Amino acid sequence: MQRKILIAIDGPSGAGKSTLAKAIAEKLDIMHLDTGALFRALGYAALKKGFDTRNSEQATKLVKEIELDVKFEGKSQKVLIDGRDVTPYIRTEDVSIAASNISVHSIVRDYVLLQERQLAEKESFVLDGRDIGTVVLPNADLKVFLTATPQVRAERRLLDLINAGDQNAEYEQVLRDIKKRDDQDSNRQTAPTRMADDAFLIDSSNLTIEETIAQMLALVEQICRE
Ligand code: DC
Repeated sequence: MQRKILIAIDGPSGAGKSTLAKAIAEKLDIMHLDTGALFRALGYAALKKGFDTRNSEQATKLVKEIELDVKFEGKSQKVLIDGRDVTPYIRTEDVSIAASNISVHSIVRDYVLLQERQLAEKESFVLDGRDIGTVVLPNADLKVFLTATPQVRAERRLLDLINAGDQNAEYEQVLRDIKKRDDQDSNRQTAPTRMADDAFLIDSSNLTIEETIAQMLALVEQICRE
């Protein structure tokens, strides 16, 4: 890939954004930024400090007290809180909820926005998140909104949990959690999950990951020809 290119993939949790973004970044040999990991790192830090993630004053205190950094080892993304790599600890259900809660506060969003834009300024990136096409990079070269039904997303998430060794994971609970997060992420006041007017919609409910990647690559080829 010669010219600098920025690709935004937004959508609800469990739609497969990160998997798709990673695959596209690899194909194009550019960087991938999983922006959810930044909110997850902040959610994790808040839990560690015993802060209430719903409370905006405590969220403000948190972003003033700690330092969040994103580092890349090759293409592998790490999130650091006060210099410590917290990447291994941010994929639990507790952290998912804390990340969703803390991402509601505009001070938190501004803090993360700055880092996202600083990174995207330097080189080509595929960014995945909720508000990349609408708020973070409104001029992205390609915007995709990736979705799937809550039921399909819950089935995929359940499989991930079981594969990760959580034998107690239960479909109904996972579905409830997904719907709750959808509701909170799409109905918050600042930068809710929303498809940009100029985004392409991909519904992966009935697609394999290979088919989803193929659809996306066709869109990439289209914009590279323009
Ligand atoms: O994509 P994820 O599940 O790792 O994201 C975790 C939470 O972070 C999600 O519930 C909402 C928030 N988030 C956000 O508000 N904006 C983004 N661009 C990415 C994630």
